[in-house]
Amino acid sequence: MNRNTTPNTAPITAAIGLLACPVCGLSLGHQNRTLRCPSGHSYDVARQGYVNLLRGAAPANADTAEMVAARARFLNTGGYLPIRDAVVEACHATTRVAEVGAGTGYYLAAVVTEQHPQAHLALDVSAAAARRSSRMGLASAVADTWAGLPILGGRLDCIMCIFAPRNPAEFARVLTPGGRVVVVTPRPAHLAELRARLHLLDVPLDKLARLDASFADVGLVAAERTAIDFDLEISPPTAADLVAMGPNAFHGEHAVLEESVQVQVSVTLSSYQRV
Ligand SMILES: C[S@@+](CC[C@H](N)C(=O)[O-])C[C@H]1O[C@@H](n2cnc3c(N)ncnc32)[C@H](O)[C@@H]1O
Ligand SMILES: [Zn+2]
Repeated sequence: MNRNTTPNTAPITAAIGLLACPVCGLSLGHQNRTLRCPSGHSYDVARQGYVNLLRGAAPANADTAEMVAARARFLNTGGYLPIRDAVVEACHATTRVAEVGAGTGYYLAAVVTEQHPQAHLALDVSAAAARRSSRMGLASAVADTWAGLPILGGRLDCIMCIFAPRNPAEFARVLTPGGRVVVVTPRPAHLAELRARLHLLDVPLDKLARLDASFADVGLVAAERTAIDFDLEISPPTAADLVAMGPNAFHGEHAVLEESVQVQVSVTLSSYQRV
């Protein structure tokens, strides 16, 4: 038997108590390599260990394998370590945690290692991202945040959403009372030098007041806000990865950096608590 064709189902089955069928919302059970709900909807675990819980085809703007690889290379430089540390701290003492738009699983893996939650789940609309986070040993599923989370109501005490789309009503639904959402968003100065030099798209900026209001509407109250600002030396190959890992990857040729530059990382970490 070719061992590579046997999926490692251990991580996703460890998260089974969190999962809901994306079609009918009932709980999922597992049998061998298949997750199944009582209504008979079933989902096969892929060879790489993740499960696809999309109801339809992935949207055309899902991150590609090349984008995910560029993101992994960039994060491996340690450039965003201060952000990772702040996220781990904000997720202290979590017992059941999910990251939505988890990408490579970089932040969730750190939370799992440092906070030892009983259960965790990485969700992303991109199958390439789910493959990558699954390779890191994380329970991973492909799911579209806008379409509703394939998570049972009231199951999580922490949701992480880092540079990724948010669905406040869904976040509120799947959190226990007292549970929290940890959100990281860029500020206007974030990588501004690099964007100007390379003529990149501007990051769509979230006004914090609007972010707070969208969470307050569903009973998620702003609890903590931290500005994370630091300088980062970016080499030309790292700059190329920063371009390739984001929306600019979809927008053709860009100027190339000739030499290293100092850029400013400028993001906000916000926590919201379900009252
Ligand atoms: C900027 S990346 C951030 C990834 C990761 N959180 C990180 O910071 O390394 C945004 C991620 O959100 C995912 N994403 C975009 N739209 C999504 C959606 N509707 N549902 C779930 N994930 C989505 C992308 O595939 C991508 O992996
Ligand atoms: Zn079902």
